[in-house]
Amino acid sequence: MRLILLGAPGAGKGTQAGFIKDKYNIPQISTGDMLRAAVKAGTPLGIAAKKIMDEGGLVSDDIIIGLVKDRLKEGDCAHGYLFDGFPRTIPQADAMKDAGVAIDYVLEIDVPDEAIVERMSGRRVHPASGRTYHVKFNPPKAEGRDDITGEELIQRDDDKEETVKKRLSVYHNQTEVLVGYYNQWAASGKPGAPKYRKIAGVGPVDQ
Ligand code: AP5
Ligand code: ZN
Repeated sequence: MRLILLGAPGAGKGTQAGFIKDKYNIPQISTGDMLRAAVKAGTPLGIAAKKIMDEGGLVSDDIIIGLVKDRLKEGDCAHGYLFDGFPRTIPQADAMKDAGVAIDYVLEIDVPDEAIVERMSGRRVHPASGRTYHVKFNPPKAEGRDDITGEELIQRDDDKEETVKKRLSVYHNQTEVLVGYYNQWAASGKPGAPKYRKIAGVGPVDQ
Protein backbone atom coordinates (compact mmCIF):
# COMPACT_ATOMS: atom_id res chain seq x y z
CA MET A 1 0.00 0.00 0.00
CA ARG A 2 1.43 3.36 -1.07
CA LEU A 3 -0.38 6.43 0.18
CA ILE A 4 -0.27 10.19 0.37
CA LEU A 5 -2.07 12.03 3.19
CA LEU A 6 -2.93 15.51 2.02
CA GLY A 7 -4.44 18.21 4.21
CA ALA A 8 -3.96 21.54 5.97
CA PRO A 9 -1.73 21.90 9.02
CA GLY A 10 -3.61 20.36 11.93
CA ALA A 11 -6.04 18.42 9.72
CA GLY A 12 -4.99 15.21 11.49
CA LYS A 13 -2.49 13.73 9.02
CA GLY A 14 -0.06 12.61 11.72
CA THR A 15 -2.89 11.31 13.92
CA GLN A 16 -4.43 9.15 11.18
CA ALA A 17 -0.97 8.10 9.91
CA GLY A 18 -0.43 6.40 13.26
CA PHE A 19 -3.37 4.06 12.63
CA ILE A 20 -2.71 3.46 8.93
CA LYS A 21 0.95 2.56 9.30
CA ASP A 22 0.12 -0.02 11.97
CA LYS A 23 -2.75 -1.51 9.97
CA TYR A 24 -0.70 -1.93 6.77
CA ASN A 25 2.70 -2.32 8.45
CA ILE A 26 4.28 0.40 6.31
CA PRO A 27 6.63 3.24 7.31
CA GLN A 28 5.27 6.74 7.87
CA ILE A 29 7.39 9.23 5.95
CA SER A 30 6.69 12.58 7.60
CA THR A 31 8.95 15.30 6.21
CA GLY A 32 7.94 17.47 9.18
CA ASP A 33 9.11 14.80 11.66
CA MET A 34 12.34 14.33 9.66
CA LEU A 35 13.04 18.08 9.77
CA ARG A 36 12.25 18.28 13.50
CA ALA A 37 14.71 15.41 14.11
CA ALA A 38 17.37 17.35 12.16
CA VAL A 39 16.64 20.48 14.23
CA LYS A 40 17.00 18.48 17.44
CA ALA A 41 20.27 16.90 16.26
CA GLY A 42 21.62 20.34 15.32
CA THR A 43 22.70 19.26 11.81
CA PRO A 44 23.35 21.94 9.15
CA LEU A 45 19.94 21.06 7.63
CA GLY A 46 18.28 21.41 11.03
CA ILE A 47 19.88 24.80 11.69
CA ALA A 48 18.75 26.11 8.29
CA ALA A 49 15.26 24.58 8.55
CA LYS A 50 14.48 25.81 12.08
CA LYS A 51 14.11 29.45 11.12
CA ILE A 52 11.87 28.64 8.14
CA MET A 53 9.69 26.28 10.19
CA ASP A 54 9.32 28.77 13.05
CA GLU A 55 8.12 31.34 10.51
CA GLY A 56 5.65 28.88 8.99
CA GLY A 57 7.32 28.85 5.57
CA LEU A 58 8.34 25.88 3.40
CA VAL A 59 11.82 24.37 3.26
CA SER A 60 13.24 24.36 -0.29
CA ASP A 61 11.99 21.75 -2.72
CA ASP A 62 15.51 20.48 -3.57
CA ILE A 63 16.29 19.70 0.06
CA ILE A 64 12.97 17.97 0.69
CA ILE A 65 13.07 15.94 -2.53
CA GLY A 66 16.61 14.77 -1.69
CA LEU A 67 15.55 13.77 1.84
CA VAL A 68 12.59 11.74 0.61
CA LYS A 69 14.48 10.04 -2.21
CA ASP A 70 17.15 8.92 0.27
CA ARG A 71 14.48 7.70 2.68
CA LEU A 72 12.77 5.64 -0.04
CA LYS A 73 16.02 3.71 -0.64
CA GLU A 74 15.78 2.20 2.85
CA GLY A 75 14.61 -1.42 2.98
CA ASP A 76 11.44 -0.81 4.97
CA CYS A 77 9.93 1.09 2.02
CA ALA A 78 10.08 -1.93 -0.30
CA HIS A 79 6.46 -2.99 0.41
CA GLY A 80 4.82 0.40 0.76
CA TYR A 81 4.94 3.78 2.48
CA LEU A 82 2.75 6.53 3.80
CA PHE A 83 3.65 10.11 2.95
CA ASP A 84 2.53 12.57 5.64
CA GLY A 85 2.95 16.25 4.77
CA PHE A 86 4.67 15.48 1.49
CA PRO A 87 4.41 16.38 -1.40
CA ARG A 88 3.55 19.97 -0.54
CA THR A 89 4.26 21.75 -3.82
CA ILE A 90 3.89 20.95 -7.54
CA PRO A 91 7.70 20.54 -7.98
CA GLN A 92 7.73 17.97 -5.13
CA ALA A 93 4.81 16.06 -6.69
CA ASP A 94 6.42 16.21 -10.15
CA ALA A 95 9.72 14.94 -8.75
CA MET A 96 8.00 11.83 -7.39
CA LYS A 97 6.12 11.28 -10.66
CA ASP A 98 9.33 11.67 -12.68
CA ALA A 99 11.17 9.25 -10.41
CA GLY A 100 8.39 6.67 -10.90
CA VAL A 101 7.47 6.59 -7.19
CA ALA A 102 4.17 4.65 -7.20
CA ILE A 103 1.07 5.94 -5.38
CA ASP A 104 -2.10 3.85 -4.92
CA TYR A 105 -4.20 6.33 -2.95
CA VAL A 106 -4.25 10.05 -2.22
CA LEU A 107 -6.37 10.73 0.88
CA GLU A 108 -7.34 14.34 1.47
CA ILE A 109 -8.35 15.12 5.05
CA ASP A 110 -10.68 18.09 4.93
CA VAL A 111 -11.01 20.39 7.97
CA PRO A 112 -12.16 24.04 7.83
CA ASP A 113 -9.64 26.69 8.90
CA GLU A 114 -11.86 27.73 11.85
CA ALA A 115 -11.26 24.38 13.59
CA ILE A 116 -7.51 24.39 13.06
CA VAL A 117 -6.32 27.03 15.53
CA GLU A 118 -8.02 25.28 18.49
CA ARG A 119 -6.52 21.96 17.44
CA MET A 120 -3.03 23.40 17.27
CA SER A 121 -3.18 25.27 20.56
CA GLY A 122 -4.12 22.04 22.39
CA ARG A 123 -1.68 19.78 20.56
CA ARG A 124 0.99 17.94 22.55
CA VAL A 125 3.59 15.68 20.92
CA HIS A 126 6.03 12.97 21.93
CA PRO A 127 9.09 14.16 20.02
CA ALA A 128 10.92 10.81 19.79
CA SER A 129 8.03 8.95 18.11
CA GLY A 130 5.96 11.77 16.62
CA ARG A 131 2.88 10.51 18.51
CA THR A 132 0.35 13.30 18.79
CA TYR A 133 -2.29 14.13 21.40
CA HIS A 134 -4.74 16.92 22.15
CA VAL A 135 -5.46 18.14 25.67
CA LYS A 136 -9.22 18.06 24.98
CA PHE A 137 -9.93 15.99 21.85
CA ASN A 138 -7.37 13.18 22.20
CA PRO A 139 -5.86 13.33 25.71
CA PRO A 140 -3.03 11.04 26.84
CA LYS A 141 -3.80 8.54 29.61
CA ALA A 142 -1.59 10.45 32.08
CA GLU A 143 -1.51 14.23 31.76
CA GLY A 144 1.56 15.47 29.88
CA ARG A 145 2.94 11.93 29.35
CA ASP A 146 3.25 9.69 26.29
CA ASP A 147 0.95 6.60 26.53
CA ILE A 148 3.65 4.12 25.50
CA THR A 149 6.92 5.40 26.96
CA GLY A 150 5.61 7.61 29.77
CA GLU A 151 8.02 10.32 28.58
CA GLU A 152 7.16 14.00 28.71
CA LEU A 153 5.05 15.59 25.95
CA ILE A 154 5.96 18.98 24.50
CA GLN A 155 4.35 21.76 22.46
CA ARG A 156 5.70 22.38 18.98
CA ASP A 157 7.51 25.70 18.44
CA ASP A 158 5.41 26.39 15.33
CA ASP A 159 2.04 26.00 17.10
CA LYS A 160 1.84 29.67 18.15
CA GLU A 161 -1.33 31.28 16.81
CA GLU A 162 0.51 33.70 14.48
CA THR A 163 2.62 30.90 12.98
CA VAL A 164 -0.43 28.67 12.56
CA LYS A 165 -2.16 31.42 10.55
CA LYS A 166 0.93 31.79 8.36
CA ARG A 167 1.11 28.00 7.82
CA LEU A 168 -2.56 27.95 6.82
CA SER A 169 -2.00 30.68 4.24
CA VAL A 170 1.05 28.84 2.89
CA TYR A 171 -1.15 25.72 2.60
CA HIS A 172 -3.81 27.57 0.62
CA ASN A 173 -1.23 29.30 -1.61
CA GLN A 174 1.20 26.48 -2.34
CA THR A 175 -0.16 23.07 -1.32
CA GLU A 176 -3.90 23.11 -1.97
CA VAL A 177 -3.18 23.18 -5.71
CA LEU A 178 -2.24 19.49 -5.28
CA VAL A 179 -5.95 18.70 -4.73
CA GLY A 180 -6.55 19.50 -8.39
CA TYR A 181 -3.25 17.95 -9.47
CA TYR A 182 -4.05 14.52 -7.98
CA ASN A 183 -7.78 14.65 -8.82
CA GLN A 184 -6.93 15.22 -12.47
CA TRP A 185 -4.35 12.46 -12.49
CA ALA A 186 -6.81 10.07 -10.80
CA ALA A 187 -9.57 10.97 -13.29
CA SER A 188 -7.23 10.43 -16.26
CA GLY A 189 -7.42 6.68 -15.75
CA LYS A 190 -3.84 6.44 -17.05
CA PRO A 191 -1.78 3.43 -15.99
CA GLY A 192 -0.32 4.08 -12.56
CA ALA A 193 -2.83 6.82 -11.73
CA PRO A 194 -3.73 6.85 -8.01
CA LYS A 195 -7.26 6.76 -6.60
CA TYR A 196 -8.35 9.97 -4.85
CA ARG A 197 -10.58 10.12 -1.76
CA LYS A 198 -11.67 13.21 0.17
CA ILE A 199 -12.44 12.49 3.81
CA ALA A 200 -14.19 14.76 6.32
CA GLY A 201 -11.67 15.32 9.11
CA VAL A 202 -14.07 16.95 11.57
CA GLY A 203 -15.48 13.86 13.31
CA PRO A 204 -13.87 12.14 16.28
CA VAL A 205 -10.38 10.70 15.69
CA ASP A 206 -11.49 7.04 15.55
CA GLN A 207 -14.27 7.85 13.09
P1 AP5 B 1 4.46 19.26 9.29
O1 AP5 B 1 5.03 18.61 10.48
O2 AP5 B 1 4.15 18.44 8.10
O3 AP5 B 1 3.21 20.10 9.74
P2 AP5 B 1 1.81 20.41 9.04
O4 AP5 B 1 1.56 19.93 7.67
O5 AP5 B 1 1.66 21.84 9.24
O6 AP5 B 1 0.84 19.49 9.79
P3 AP5 B 1 0.75 19.26 11.30
O7 AP5 B 1 1.76 18.23 11.72
O8 AP5 B 1 0.76 20.57 12.02
O9 AP5 B 1 -0.72 18.70 11.40
P4 AP5 B 1 -1.31 17.24 11.16
O10 AP5 B 1 -2.21 17.27 9.98
O11 AP5 B 1 -0.26 16.18 11.20
O12 AP5 B 1 -2.26 17.18 12.44
P5 AP5 B 1 -2.13 16.31 13.77
O13 AP5 B 1 -2.47 14.87 13.49
O14 AP5 B 1 -0.87 16.60 14.48
O15 AP5 B 1 5.45 20.43 8.80
C1 AP5 B 1 6.02 21.36 9.70
C2 AP5 B 1 6.92 22.32 8.94
O16 AP5 B 1 8.00 21.61 8.31
C3 AP5 B 1 6.24 23.06 7.77
O17 AP5 B 1 5.60 24.23 8.23
C4 AP5 B 1 7.45 23.35 6.85
O18 AP5 B 1 8.19 24.45 7.33
C5 AP5 B 1 8.29 22.10 7.01
N1 AP5 B 1 7.96 21.06 6.02
C6 AP5 B 1 7.43 19.82 6.29
N2 AP5 B 1 7.25 19.12 5.16
C7 AP5 B 1 7.65 19.93 4.14
C8 AP5 B 1 7.68 19.77 2.74
N3 AP5 B 1 7.23 18.63 2.15
N4 AP5 B 1 8.15 20.81 1.98
C9 AP5 B 1 8.59 21.94 2.57
N5 AP5 B 1 8.58 22.16 3.90
C10 AP5 B 1 8.12 21.16 4.69
O19 AP5 B 1 -3.39 16.91 14.57
C11 AP5 B 1 -3.36 18.26 15.06
C12 AP5 B 1 -4.04 18.33 16.44
O20 AP5 B 1 -5.44 18.06 16.29
C13 AP5 B 1 -3.50 17.29 17.44
O21 AP5 B 1 -3.50 17.86 18.71
C14 AP5 B 1 -4.53 16.15 17.36
O22 AP5 B 1 -4.61 15.41 18.56
C15 AP5 B 1 -5.82 16.92 17.06
N6 AP5 B 1 -6.76 16.14 16.24
C16 AP5 B 1 -6.45 15.27 15.23
N7 AP5 B 1 -7.58 14.76 14.69
C17 AP5 B 1 -8.62 15.32 15.37
C18 AP5 B 1 -10.04 15.18 15.29
N8 AP5 B 1 -10.62 14.37 14.39
N9 AP5 B 1 -10.81 15.93 16.12
C19 AP5 B 1 -10.22 16.77 17.03
N10 AP5 B 1 -8.89 16.93 17.18
C20 AP5 B 1 -8.09 16.21 16.35
ZN1 ZN C 1 1.84 16.22 11.38
